[in-house]
Amino acid sequence: MSPIEELRHEHAAIKVMLDILERMVIGVEIHRELNTEHLGQLLDFIRGYADECHHIKEEDIFFPILRQAVSPLEDISGGIFREHQEGREYVIKMSEAFRAYTMGDKTVLADFNEVAKTYIRLLRSHIFHEDTQIFPFAENRLLPEQNEEMEEAFAQLERKETQHSQHVALRESLHQLEGLYLVEDL
Ligand SMILES: [Fe+2]
Ligand SMILES: [Fe+2]
Repeated sequence: MSPIEELRHEHAAIKVMLDILERMVIGVEIHRELNTEHLGQLLDFIRGYADECHHIKEEDIFFPILRQAVSPLEDISGGIFREHQEGREYVIKMSEAFRAYTMGDKTVLADFNEVAKTYIRLLRSHIFHEDTQIFPFAENRLLPEQNEEMEEAFAQLERKETQHSQHVALRESLHQLEGLYLVEDL
């Protein structure tokens, strides 16, 4: 798998997470309650996989290498980094609402839903932008040795034992939630 295919593969998992979160939001609208165990699992996935793994790969490895392949005048990452930051702020707000809810405060549900909906919209359009514009652009511009450098840096990040085993566990946990939230009703 090329490094860009690896990023696309991670997007696929992140999109599943967004679909599950959307189902949880609908559940809150209908039942006025949240499954705290499932939301806890999903927030762990968002923090550990979407942010600490995928977004860090893009910020620390993918864009710095891509920047070497383009003119300094081409601003390819400014908007992307701002959106990552905006997303992190929504994750903090969702985590705070989650904590308050687990302590018995049901008034935070409306806020939780508003923030979650904004986060879902932001990340879906962010991923669409990367998949349809940034990645094809990078595939055109990156030299073979830059692709190799990226591949090695990704592998090094994944090799840190805690990282790798944590990512496997997080994907398994997402898969379990997918079975619970995204199977079609028979
Ligand atoms: Fe991104
Ligand atoms: Fe991405």
